[in-house]
Amino acid sequence: MTSESELNTIERDLAERLRNQLAEVVGSTQVLTEQDMVAGYVTDWTGAWSGWTRAVVRPGTVVEVQQVVSLCRDAGVPIVTQGGNTGLVGGSVPHRGEVVLSLRRLTRLDPVDTISGQVTAGAGVTIAALRDHVRRSGFDYGVDLASRDSATIGGTIATNAGGIRVIANGDTRRQVLGLEVVLADGTVISRLAGIEKDSAGFDLSQLFVGSEGTLGVITSARLRLAPLIGGERHVVLLGVSHPSQGLELRGPRVTALEFLSHSCLAIVSAHLGRRLPTTGEHPYYVLVESSRLPQLDPNADAVVDERLWEFREAITESLSTQGVPHKFDVGVPLARLDEFVGEVELLDGDVFVFGHLAEGNCHVNVLGPTDYETVADQVLGLVVDHGGTVASEHGIGVAKGRWLFHTTSPAERAAIRRIKHALDPQGILNPAVTFAPEE
Ligand code: FAD
Ligand code: MLT
Ligand code: ZN
Repeated sequence: MTSESELNTIERDLAERLRNQLAEVVGSTQVLTEQDMVAGYVTDWTGAWSGWTRAVVRPGTVVEVQQVVSLCRDAGVPIVTQGGNTGLVGGSVPHRGEVVLSLRRLTRLDPVDTISGQVTAGAGVTIAALRDHVRRSGFDYGVDLASRDSATIGGTIATNAGGIRVIANGDTRRQVLGLEVVLADGTVISRLAGIEKDSAGFDLSQLFVGSEGTLGVITSARLRLAPLIGGERHVVLLGVSHPSQGLELRGPRVTALEFLSHSCLAIVSAHLGRRLPTTGEHPYYVLVESSRLPQLDPNADAVVDERLWEFREAITESLSTQGVPHKFDVGVPLARLDEFVGEVELLDGDVFVFGHLAEGNCHVNVLGPTDYETVADQVLGLVVDHGGTVASEHGIGVAKGRWLFHTTSPAERAAIRRIKHALDPQGILNPAVTFAPEE
């Protein structure tokens, strides 16, 4: 990990002056610089990306966020905004001295607006905390994911997170009615009234969904809530010969439809110290959750038990115990899913494929080969050959910018650069994440 010693004497003095100014805004206890204090902020969840920071700053109010951004802009020091730091594409950590702007203290949670089925929440509220809050008023939040205890409202909006409920409620973008955002010039824009139909000019809020901290700092969100599904949940795991067989289970009562390869189930079973849940072994398994027990083939090798979610949700953690996997989060057309999965499993290394079946969202994790770029060329090359997208729910981060050349046109990339320049002309917001590298 490089250190501040890279800076020359003048830059070091400026960094020291900035830290003092930041401490005046947020309080000295909310400016972290000691290596052991910043450690959890400068390395990503997977351990694949790690960098150094001039300081971690933890504002407690929107006004403090505005002042911090303005100070960094005036000092010409870049910022990486951070929520729960569970992102998987390297976009949430500093790479070369960026100030880490941690929003975990922005935990505003307004009372649920039960008439409209909406709530306003601060960027630092975790998914788990939000769900607990709204469930007490008879609602649920439409997005759920295994990182719920740490992933935040700000981070899930900035990555347009998907998760296990997209089949029923759509991705994060579909939950966002409006945002409060601090821009790179320190001003704040806000659209939190929760008007369901509003065509009064550009929908600026939606521009920040999926922007990965490169266009502005999301400080609050007005969110649409989902009905709280009462009654019994039937969770079924069944062995299949191809992932697409699970698509037959889709229906209005289905609240989740996931798939995993046998290699995933085997590594999770070993990690959990549990035997394989099905009677036999199969090339793939489908996990379906429904409010009505699905009609299954009488000969299906299936198990029904709510605890089966553990086998799906422990995959990421189980893989990480084997080393730092090369992680790819891709989407392919459903009609080509089986073909893509079959081909990607033939690549070098230990290949693990799992994901959100209903959306054709595959998580390809490869253990073994050391060179990320070679593996990326192989996996993402297959994605492009199958007419897919190189990022389905985790975002682009620092590793996939160049792959957008394959899935965007020069005109699109030029428009992306113009929008970035208009909102962040000095390029201080998450400069390591580029959606449209210079051509
Ligand atoms: P961070 O990791 O802190 O940041 C992510 C990105 O958002 C960065 O680019 C950061 O700069 C930016 N950002 C953060 N907060 C703000 C803000 N307030 N304003 C502007 N930009 C901001 N993801 C899925 O989509 N689906 C899954 O099913 C899923 N499952 C996961 C399971 C595990 C075990 C783990 C570890 C991760 C999983 N993820 C999943 C990935 C991760 O949880 C999501 O990407 C999540 O959206 C990140 O939220 P966060 O608060 O941790 O953001
Ligand atoms: C998941 O669906 O489990 C997540 O997106 C995490 C991952 O891809 O590792
Ligand atoms: Zn996922």
